[in-house]
Amino acid sequence: MIVEHLSLVDFRNYAEAELALQPGPNVLVGRNGQGKTNLAEAIAYLATLGSHRVSSDAPLVREGKDAAFVRARLAHGARRVTLELQINKQGSNRARVSGSPVRTSELPRYAQAVLFAPEDLQIVRGDPSQRRRFADQLLIQRTPRMAGVIADYERTLRQRTALLKSARARGLKGAQLSTLDVWDDKLVALGSQLIDARVRLAQDLAEPVAAAYAGVAGEDHRPELSWVLSVRGADPEEGDELPAGAEEGSTEELFRSALAARRAQELDRGLTLVGPHRDDLLLTVRGLPVKGYASHGESWSVALALRLASAELLRAESQGGDPILILDDVFAELDADRRRRLADVVADFEQVLVTAAVAADVPEPLRANAVRIEAGAVLGPLADHPLSPEPSDG
Ligand SMILES: Nc1ncnc2c1ncn2[C@@H]1O[C@H](COP(=O)(O)OP(=O)(O)OP(=O)(O)O)[C@@H](O)[C@H]1O
Ligand SMILES: [Mg+2]
Repeated sequence: MIVEHLSLVDFRNYAEAELALQPGPNVLVGRNGQGKTNLAEAIAYLATLGSHRVSSDAPLVREGKDAAFVRARLAHGARRVTLELQINKQGSNRARVSGSPVRTSELPRYAQAVLFAPEDLQIVRGDPSQRRRFADQLLIQRTPRMAGVIADYERTLRQRTALLKSARARGLKGAQLSTLDVWDDKLVALGSQLIDARVRLAQDLAEPVAAAYAGVAGEDHRPELSWVLSVRGADPEEGDELPAGAEEGSTEELFRSALAARRAQELDRGLTLVGPHRDDLLLTVRGLPVKGYASHGESWSVALALRLASAELLRAESQGGDPILILDDVFAELDADRRRRLADVVADFEQVLVTAAVAADVPEPLRANAVRIEAGAVLGPLADHPLSPEPSDG
């Protein structure tokens, strides 16, 4: 699919903006802080219902305003669908699809986009929550129904943890807490679904990640992914790095026995210590964990490969064609060889949006349809809007 047209009102630094986009490559060019990433963020929000930069919606609304509006016309073959989203600083957001009100959670069924940004280095370098977030976001994009499973799991987890905390405060021991069993059943049922889905996702990503890594890095460093699971006794949140035990049994059985084994500890600490919220996605290159071992370039290639592989996976399963591929500020970070290779890897996507401060950083084949962005305005084709002189300090 492609975005044919994007309209923004009071989104980030845009009071009003209209951006027409073409099939194939599109480049948004402008100096730092002009609003290139904001445009990318607006499109990606429709597909993921979140920003890659902030966890709350308030920063997306233009300063001094109460709501931001994002409208995108998507095209796939002869089909057109218009998505509209009102992001409210307070209260819930509102969405429409081709004029009819829908729940905002419906939008990702229509919009598929994969955004790669420098922040993604945190997927490979940051704490386990970053990797869980990456995986869950992709799960939801692949199977929108998973959003409900994840939300229900998180709610159950909060309630179970609250119960543990109050039990600790009252000095209760395991046997005196029969209500915990009810929460355990829910936690295990929902959590096991999530764990199994994540494990399948890692398996499905293995090949496309290896292919994308080789495509970008030009070498095969055997990138691999596997889950370190707390239901198997590991605790990556406490610094466990390698997968623990290989006990036999279904996820639900493992979950139950791990909960039983840690119940005293849980009551002691007032925390739920077993479940997908305590797991980590272990990424390795040449058999060593990326985090702590890989070079900057290798880490960068793994992060990029994860996103490119995500796009491949979505494309392979989608009824709506390719996801929109968005590369925010990627090329400035890469050497000439990697730039060329990345351009090759992404060239066959139906639409690619690239942001760059300097157009020359973007390889020639992707430099079509370059648009100048300046001070929260879409000025128009780069050819008609060459860079105005840099404001001098002197
Ligand atoms: N809610 C908001 N209201 C008004 N302005 C905002 C808001 N959020 C961000 N901005 C402004 O938007 C600008 C940043 O835009 P953006 O991140 O898109 O820049 P960019 O063109 O991608 O720059 P860079 O090349 O540095 O990545 C900043 O000047 C910032 O102050
Ligand atoms: Mg930017």
